[in-house]
Amino acid sequence: MRELPAAVRSSIAGYPGSRIREVSNIGMGKPGVTALWFGEGDRPTPKFICDAAAQSMAAGRTYYTANNGTAELRETIARYATRLHGGPITPDRVTVTASGVNALMLVMQTLVDPGDNVVMVTPVWPNCANGIEIVLSGEVRRVALTPDAQGRWTLDVERLFAACDARTKVIFINSPGNPTGWMAGAEIHRALLDFARKRRIWIVADEVYERLVYDRTCAPSALDGATADDPVIVVNSFSKAWCMTGWRLGWIIHPPGLATMLAKITEMNMSGAAMFAQDAGVVAIEQGEPFVKEIVESYSRARDVVVQRLGAMPRVRLARPEAAFYAFFRVEGVTDSLALAKDVLERTGVGMAPGIAFGPEGEGWLRLCFATSPERLSGALDRLAPAFS
Ligand SMILES: Cc1ncc(COP(=O)(O)O)c(C=O)c1O
Repeated sequence: MRELPAAVRSSIAGYPGSRIREVSNIGMGKPGVTALWFGEGDRPTPKFICDAAAQSMAAGRTYYTANNGTAELRETIARYATRLHGGPITPDRVTVTASGVNALMLVMQTLVDPGDNVVMVTPVWPNCANGIEIVLSGEVRRVALTPDAQGRWTLDVERLFAACDARTKVIFINSPGNPTGWMAGAEIHRALLDFARKRRIWIVADEVYERLVYDRTCAPSALDGATADDPVIVVNSFSKAWCMTGWRLGWIIHPPGLATMLAKITEMNMSGAAMFAQDAGVVAIEQGEPFVKEIVESYSRARDVVVQRLGAMPRVRLARPEAAFYAFFRVEGVTDSLALAKDVLERTGVGMAPGIAFGPEGEGWLRLCFATSPERLSGALDRLAPAFS
């Protein structure tokens, strides 16, 4: 690496970078590689959404917007969230962001002082924990999900509560979960809400996979049963359900009083998401239900194939993921998932995320994103079979 002309923050200099990127950097763009390492489908954004953005741009909607987002998109999201979760959820509880990860960072920047702690259900997608520790000098306390006899992930809420103390600002929960596919039930949300009310701790729920569920329309949410006055913040995104990862568009649902705080912090970060992307977001929500249904059906078929074929490989331990689009599986005898992911990539041309990327609880595991065509998936599984037998 080239020497820097002057010093940068030590926490940034010392951070090794994403372990998923460490694998993808080796294989990205190489002929013959099937990339199943990132959390995105290989379908482009549907045309009706792209057309809406193009029309908006052509109409000159290329300016700054209000920090909390355009009125149209906030109203559309409020109606959508009310339809899914009751409430009613009003537009003053909606802030539009430039992606889900941006939403998480804005929320944590708003809530976490240096030395505060965030109690987090793990294994979990790493970006939120990294932001808290590396950027905000907060502490992350990890409480691991444990697999039951059938391999299904379960959360012991008493252990989660026991991890909280006077410096706990936030309980962070990602459900449906990346990488596990774990889905918190209504009883978990209720217990968290009771605890948060009593202890005046924020619940921050990352629900970007709420629509990628296979036995219902929408996953149980932290919003179900919560009122506008509860310490509940929900982060969501256009990336997954509408195949819009590259657009960088998401939202936050929060108590009304937080809107001005989020506007202030948004001003310091990106001062609002792109106007034409927000216009396209309105169309995605209003006209996108048939598309969401269609991709969920295709992911459901892919999930069946992965569970059946990958799950049958002799060295693989895989439970059926309840939701999201990941197979998170243990490989017998493996203690270094990063080395394994690199080795499997080299030998088979199939790129996956190493479990260690999701915390120490994920060591020995790999994550495969199955949001791909049946042909690509089946070709990848053919190539993986010898590596795991
Ligand atoms: C759990 C979780 N939250 C948030 C995000 C961020 O999504 P985006 O920034 O694309 O909206 C992701 C992306 O993979 C994720 O897996």
